[in-house]
Order: sequence, then C-alpha cells, then structure tokens
Amino acid sequence: MLQIQENVSLKKFNTFGIDANARYFAEISHEDELVELFADPQWLSTDRLVIGGGSNMLLVKDFEGLIIRMNIRGIEHRISHDDVFVEVGAGEVWNDLVNFCVDRNYAGMENLSLIPGSVGASPIQNIGAYGVELKDVFASCRTFEIATGAFRTFTKEDCKFGYRESVFKTELAGQYIIVGVKFHLSLKPNINLKYGAIEQELVNRGITQPTIEDVSQVVSHIRVSKLPDPSTIGNAGSFFKNPVIGAVQFGLLQEQFPDIVNYPMPDGQIKLAAGWLIEQCGWKGKTVGNTGTWKNQALVLVNHGGATGEEVYSLSSQIIDSVYTKFGVTLQREVNIIS
Ligand code: EPU
Repeated sequence: MLQIQENVSLKKFNTFGIDANARYFAEISHEDELVELFADPQWLSTDRLVIGGGSNMLLVKDFEGLIIRMNIRGIEHRISHDDVFVEVGAGEVWNDLVNFCVDRNYAGMENLSLIPGSVGASPIQNIGAYGVELKDVFASCRTFEIATGAFRTFTKEDCKFGYRESVFKTELAGQYIIVGVKFHLSLKPNINLKYGAIEQELVNRGITQPTIEDVSQVVSHIRVSKLPDPSTIGNAGSFFKNPVIGAVQFGLLQEQFPDIVNYPMPDGQIKLAAGWLIEQCGWKGKTVGNTGTWKNQALVLVNHGGATGEEVYSLSSQIIDSVYTKFGVTLQREVNIIS
C-alpha cells in the first residue's frame, strides 16, 4: 500500500548530505504504485521531483512539493548466443548492477564501475566515464507517463542521448518516470582502454591481457584515488560539465595558455577539461566555509559537514565567475539544482 509521508528530512537521500526537508515524500517499490499515486489528481498539480540515489542533485532549499523516490528492484537476464539482455528495476544501485554483470562476465559496463546513483537515473544524463557512456550498453527503458498514466517504452533513438544529455532532461523533462532499463551486453568482451590512465594502471599491475574484472578493478581504483566517497564526504561527482567551444576561440586560448587540456571532437569543436580551468583559477582543494572543491579533482564540489545548499551554490557561482574572467568560457552546472 502506497504511503505518503510528510515533512521528511532528505539528508540521507542526497549524496551531498544537504539537510533539507520534503513537504511530501513517497517511496515507489512497484510500478503499480505510480498508477495509484497519480490516480489522485492532487499529485498531478503538485510540484514533483523524482529521485533515485540522489547523487546528481543539490537541494538549495526545502522542497515544498512531493518527492518520489524510486525503489523498484529486480535484475533479470537472458542470454542469446553472445548477446546478453539484462532488465533492471529503476531502484537498483548502479554499481550493484555493474558488479552483477562483471561477476557473470557480461561485458560492456565495466568502465562505468563505481559511478554513484541508481539504474533509473542512468539514462537521464547518459552517465559516462573512462571512454564509455550509458548509451553504449542501453537497449531501451520502460517509463510511466505522468499525464496519461500509461507505460511507454523508449528505444535508444527515442532517448536522443548526448554528452550528459537525453530527452528526459530536455524536451520531455518532468513528463516521464523511468521504471526500468534494459541493457544489451555481450559475452565477448570489447576491452576499452582509450582512457590512458586505465592502460597505465594495468601496466603498473603487470596485466597484459585484461579481463573485464581487471578493467572494473582498475577503474574503481582510479575513481577512489581521484574522487571523494559520498558516504564520508558529501558530493555529487562532477559539479560542472566539460565546456565545448569553437575552434577559433580555442586557437586564441591556446596561444595564451599553451598547456590548456583539450579534446578535439568529431564535429570540429573542442572540449575543455573544466577541472583544469577551475584549478588554474586557484580553486583546487580550497575550503570556503563548510564547502569547497576536492583536493584531487577541482571539478567536484564537496560538503565538509553541515554545508547548506545555498553555500554550495554560491561557491559554484564564484567558480563560474572566475573561470569566465580568466578564460572567457562559461561553465554549465551538471548537477541538478533544486531551488
Ligand atoms: N584536471 C586538472 N585539474 C583538476 C581536475 C582535472 O588539471 O582538478 C585535468 C586532468 O589532469 C585531466 C583532465 O583535466 O587532464 C580531465 O580530468 P579527468 O580525467 O579527471 O576527467 P574529467 O573530464 O574531469 C570526466 C567526467 C567524470 C568521469 C571522468 C573520467 C564530466 C563532467 N566528468 O571528468 O564524471 O569520471 O571524466 O571519465 O564529464 C561525473 O560526471 O560525476 C564524473 C565524475
């Protein structure tokens, strides 16, 4: 039976560890509960926010509407020749799924090891790391359409995935709730070592023929060494996106800053490393009140304990201003700001 709680602290439901309250809070363990919830028209007209692991959001103040926490569980898998199809409830923890697949030698998501968050959130921003993005293993997702109460399947094309983007963040934002995701993996590993740090760490370990388990372990090792663990230091991973600029602007910047870290894109534009830009402005490892940037990765803002959402937001604005002043590049926040 669906229960709606009132005045719930969200501290343990967001990895930033921000202590803000939700006016209403519903936990969904079965998709029928969404039908039941929206059968009451009150919730159609209330501000809503759907959360999974709460790992990509910053609560700037109390949330006066309804928080819907997705907790639908279950992992089912089917093998057909070398193809593996895995259907997963939105509420499963992303890294538990990665481990489930790596343990069974289902290849494709090993580079995405240790990304925080839930499976249901993974398509929304097309999570990615170490040369692989969610879209590379995504088959389809099952969604609930809030306005009609109908369930609809989105194919990969329907989702219009881009860099940290999908249709669920843009044209269809707020209209659908992801209840499950189907992945397409393989029994034949296609080891992806495009990202130099993985290859280097494999060499350090004397591994010449890496298995997907080796890759998963190496990626986890790199993440732990660079990124703060949200269970001890509140954070939401990369706070900003890596900015993409045109070739002309890049040429001028490179003259002035010959070391500027850059990744040319297939379309001729250039992606810059936001972490590098922020570090050059002197922010890396800096503490400001209860917040700051992480000592090993300036792109990650952290809660050193007791930070408010406003404090973190204000730091992010200062960072945006100083990067703009020094480089003329405007950083965009990647984290979902709830205000
Ligand atoms: N760099 C600095 N200073 C810093 C941080 C980075 O100079 O403080 C430089 C690094 O030396 C490197 C470059 O910037 O040359 C890129 O750094 P890194 O390899 O750490 O990757 P990133 O571009 O900063 C992205 C993703 C991460 C993902 C890593 C690895 C975005 C916004 N972030 O970070 O994703 O784990 O690549 O693939 O695309 C996340 O989204 O929450 C996240 C952690």
